Amino acid sequence: MRGTRHRLRMGAGLLVTGALALSGCDSAAPEAAPSPSASPTPSRAFTAGADGVGDPYFPTYGNGGYDVGQYTVKVRYDPAKDELTGTTTVRATATADLSTFNLDLAGLTVSAVTVDGAPATHSRKRNELVIKPASGLINGNGFVAEITYAGKPKPLKNETLGEGGFVHTTDGAIALGQPESASTWFPVNDHPSDKATYDFEVTVPDGLTAISNGVPGGKASTGGWTTWKWSEKSPMASYLSTLVIGKFRITTATHKGRPVYNAVTTTVAKGNADASIAQTVKVADYLESVFGPYPFAAYGGVVISDSRISYALETQSRPVYAASFFRQGVDTEVVAHELAHQWFGDSVALAKWEDIWLNEGFATYAEWLWAEHTKAYTAKAAFDIRYAQVPAQVWKTPPGKPGAEQLFSESVYQRGGMTLHALRVAVGDKAFFEIVKTWAAEKRDSTATTAEFVALAERVSGKQLDALFDAWLYGTKKPAAPKRL
Ligand code: ARG
Ligand code: ZN
Repeated sequence: MRGTRHRLRMGAGLLVTGALALSGCDSAAPEAAPSPSASPTPSRAFTAGADGVGDPYFPTYGNGGYDVGQYTVKVRYDPAKDELTGTTTVRATATADLSTFNLDLAGLTVSAVTVDGAPATHSRKRNELVIKPASGLINGNGFVAEITYAGKPKPLKNETLGEGGFVHTTDGAIALGQPESASTWFPVNDHPSDKATYDFEVTVPDGLTAISNGVPGGKASTGGWTTWKWSEKSPMASYLSTLVIGKFRITTATHKGRPVYNAVTTTVAKGNADASIAQTVKVADYLESVFGPYPFAAYGGVVISDSRISYALETQSRPVYAASFFRQGVDTEVVAHELAHQWFGDSVALAKWEDIWLNEGFATYAEWLWAEHTKAYTAKAAFDIRYAQVPAQVWKTPPGKPGAEQLFSESVYQRGGMTLHALRVAVGDKAFFEIVKTWAAEKRDSTATTAEFVALAERVSGKQLDALFDAWLYGTKKPAAPKRL
């Protein structure tokens, strides 16, 4: 069956509004915390921010008590020494009265922290950086934390899901991973529910290129080092950040007024990989006709080759692809998959990891739509063959509640895609495509849940769909064949 090769897309596989409004702001320094004795009643109780956002699958990911609006990440990486030095500025808003707050940082050594310009105390507990500002942070106020750090970056190990984060490669480095990666190279509130905008400045030895998300801001060289700037002005989930350092064949263009920046590692010969990602804007334009406006200010793709990374990832505005996808020929299915994530996964991001089918089911279905558009096969044929032939395990694993270990399982991808086809059959083409476009438009630059999708599908179609979604997303038996409601 077509597509099994891409089972997991493996090569041969908030409140953001409030935060954004305050971000980059004058960030009025919070008033000094009133001392309890002098304060008017009731006195403020400053407490420690939580060390996790409480994700049902990954309770320690992210942190509580604040909402980040913007990160400025300035790092220097020396591949010869495998050494990273950095300063990251975090502009955030307190969502509680905080005596301390945490950022996620894996490995690396922190040398200094300031909050609103004043030195702050810092300590480490495993992959948590605990910051105690000179005075408490008041709920609703903006604050700016600046963290200076250095060390040898190391990826995070995850036994079932694989490594995530910074790896040293033959010609540079790659920072990539899902569900976590960012904390291996900068301090971060590492959970998709806290989206933020990002500026990156990455300094590498002359002769190497450093690629990241969003709009390229040019490069400048001095004293043997080149600084590359990148800017992602649409809110982004932290795991969608990437950094790829090395030697590349780079192609640039402008499309619909936006920069296109494609790169293929020179460690693979020029050929299918280059030809595949050259189709990026063509595929994006097709998807735009189905999903509504492309959500970001830049286009692109990066092809890497490292034995430890066998997947592709929808890093925002510029997906990263393992070269193995293109070994047998031009592959635009994987390009369609990663670009579909720009709408579903990136612009409309997860509030909790349990809802991963909202990313992978949509991206899988987009592959079928793209295949139908290119006359390779129809979406109906893709559904039918899977309905008849997927392994029994797919029917036992509910894609709407797969469990942390099954986050990237076949059920999430294939049954997730089949769920959307079942919805399409039930409500008809007109309502189905209106549902998909409305979802992308209403949740743009935001986060969303499965319950919200079900409610929206019922609202737009005017049909009661709980039985359909219960069977397809939460059942542990093969659902009945879909029919028009
Ligand atoms: N979201 C990626 C994609 O389907 C797959 C990531 C796989 N991640 C992993 N840890 N194996 O495009
Ligand atoms: Zn995917």
